[in-house]
Amino acid sequence: MTTPKNDLYLKALRGETVSRPPVWMMRQAGRYLPEFMELREKYDFFTRCQTPELASEITVQPLRRFGMDAAILFSDILVVPQAMNIEVEMRPGFGPYLPNPIRTKEDLGRVVVPDVHETLGYVFDAVKMTLEKLDNSVPLIGFAGSPWTILCYSVQGQGSKNFDLAKSLCFSQPEVAHALLQKITDTTIAYLKAKVDAGVHALQIFDSWGGMLGPEDYNEFSLQYMRQIVDALKDLAPVTLFGKGCWFALSDMAETGASALGVDWTCSPRNARYLSKGKITLQGNYDPARLLSPVSRIKADVRQMIDGFGKDRYIVNLGHGILPNIPVEHAKAFIDAVKSYH
Ligand code: CP3
Repeated sequence: MTTPKNDLYLKALRGETVSRPPVWMMRQAGRYLPEFMELREKYDFFTRCQTPELASEITVQPLRRFGMDAAILFSDILVVPQAMNIEVEMRPGFGPYLPNPIRTKEDLGRVVVPDVHETLGYVFDAVKMTLEKLDNSVPLIGFAGSPWTILCYSVQGQGSKNFDLAKSLCFSQPEVAHALLQKITDTTIAYLKAKVDAGVHALQIFDSWGGMLGPEDYNEFSLQYMRQIVDALKDLAPVTLFGKGCWFALSDMAETGASALGVDWTCSPRNARYLSKGKITLQGNYDPARLLSPVSRIKADVRQMIDGFGKDRYIVNLGHGILPNIPVEHAKAFIDAVKSYH
């Protein structure tokens, strides 16, 4: 794998000293971009994911406009359950919908650990095409959902405020839940290894619903499976773990061998450094809704955030994905403020 010309992001992951921290935004390819909306009108969601020409184009759209220090492949965490024989639809205006959710031992019997090259080959083709378009300018991040977060959708069948059905499976039929989590973990490891083989420079695991669990349940139903993923991948590519609402787990996550931890905006930089014992690169944590503030405020906030985390061992990002209603100039102000930091 060749090192990209701009390797700030990889340096920060290795904990090396940098002139300024790198910046990218979670869900940076998305509905706040007019050029994304144009393609969205023509092609449905999974067509965009499954067509390497479209996925690679959407991946580079935000970079053309803003020049972030890393690209993240356009895809979705739900392509993994889809490959495991769990049907997934993306309903406009509603979000993910899984018509046949996994709620019993019998349901679990239908779930397979697939050959990822057969079922997800389009993702690896999209990685290769994106690398050609990037022409070695910046690193490309590959991602997957955490096993817990994938279980949430697979059992609940859709988004939810509390994922009560997913938690109910864990607490009433723990052996079914653990068997499902292990199948997801095995698939995810094979999937991420193949992404690295296709050329991604780094990996991020999105544990978007980790914050639904208390600290003990988090260890049992989420962290132990992410640990397996980190163990299997850490010598192949740097891994970032992002747990939304999971500040309570930062200390344990820092011991997994991950290169970096994502932090959301409910945890102060100081507390995040304290909990992770100052040993690991941190990424985050601007409140995505704060991008609705005036540009002058965004710029001041970014400086304060970098000073709070410190410029080294730090990757500037949002504390969760960018919202569709963010003005493009505000996203630009966020990126520019980091690039002019000195
Ligand atoms: O960062 C990027 O730009 C790469 C693309 C990316 C998407 N989904 C594209 C997408 C990434 C990294 C994801 C991850 C993802 N998907 C997560 C984890 C991150 C997070 O936000 O917590 C989750 C939980 C999902 C599941 C998912 N996919 C939901 C809940 C939705 C519907 C909500 C929404 O934003 O509409 C999606 C659809 C989706 N995935 C869209 C995009 C751009 C919007 C739908 C569309 O374009 O038609």
